[in-house]
Amino acid sequence: MNPRIACMAAAFFLASVAVPTAHAAGWIDQRSVIAVHGDATAGAAKATTCVACHGPNGNAIIPAFPKLAGQRAEYLAGELHKAKLGSRPDSPMTALAAPLTDEDIANLATYFASQARTPSTLPPADSAVLSRGESLYLHGDPARGVPPCQGCHGSDANGPADGAGHLRAWPALRGQNGDYVVQRLKNYRDGKLMDSSNDFVMHGVAQSLDDGSIQAIASWLASLPPGAP
Ligand code: HEC
Ligand code: HEC
Repeated sequence: MNPRIACMAAAFFLASVAVPTAHAAGWIDQRSVIAVHGDATAGAAKATTCVACHGPNGNAIIPAFPKLAGQRAEYLAGELHKAKLGSRPDSPMTALAAPLTDEDIANLATYFASQARTPSTLPPADSAVLSRGESLYLHGDPARGVPPCQGCHGSDANGPADGAGHLRAWPALRGQNGDYVVQRLKNYRDGKLMDSSNDFVMHGVAQSLDDGSIQAIASWLASLPPGAP
């Protein structure tokens, strides 16, 4: 191939997968995801409206809101593209994401991913709940069809260790706010998050989780100090 055509082909390839395309049926295909390399400084400038809910540097203080700090950029970008689908009118993110360009999304995702996640300031749940959550996360519960979460979210809950290809968009859970994780898991289970191929994966997983299991896993994840264990 001559160099010019090769270059055009490469540019087309990047353009076609850097921004996920919405499927005709209204969901985003995340089976192929390339790395997000935005401009963190531009992202920080754009993030001033986000801190009201997501906290300083993306460390949300209100436990019902997700921490964005230290999350994988590809996951954050995917969530913003999904919010633009507008399938959840009751979410504040629907209106907030609507005006964002693809470039804004890459910049915001790069900025929040580069920030350090801070530990929870809330007292941890009691030790029986924490050890139940840890056991479910690491080993699942074969009798009830609960898969080990670590198989996809990493043994340290920082996301899959080999975070390449589509695995880039599989989120870290370590140190995430507990009330947020509880609500998120119930939403997957109850079919309220069906905006992407990755949502379909978690919808399947969450079918096996009762409310007590959800609370235990969320409490344990929230109690973990962020960063490498
Ligand atoms: C009024 C409060 C509010 C503001 C302001 C806000 N968000 Fe959110 N955001 C939420 C809530 C609540 C959720 C979780 C539930 C949902 O998706 O509706 C969320 C979810 C997210 C998620 C998905 C996180 C995850 O772990 O799945 C991302 C990414 C995000 N917001 C980015 C942003 C960015 C970037 C901005 C600024 C442009 C912003 N948000 C401004 C309330 C807010
Ligand atoms: C087969 C792989 C797989 C397994 C097993 C799995 N997950 Fe997930 N999980 C995913 C993927 C993919 C996503 C991203 C979904 C999306 O884009 O919304 C995800 C997303 C999540 C989120 C949303 C994070 C956020 O910031 O909003 C939570 C919470 C979560 N998983 C918890 C769990 C728990 C708890 C278990 C174990 C009971 C588990 N997962 C098992 C693949 C998996």
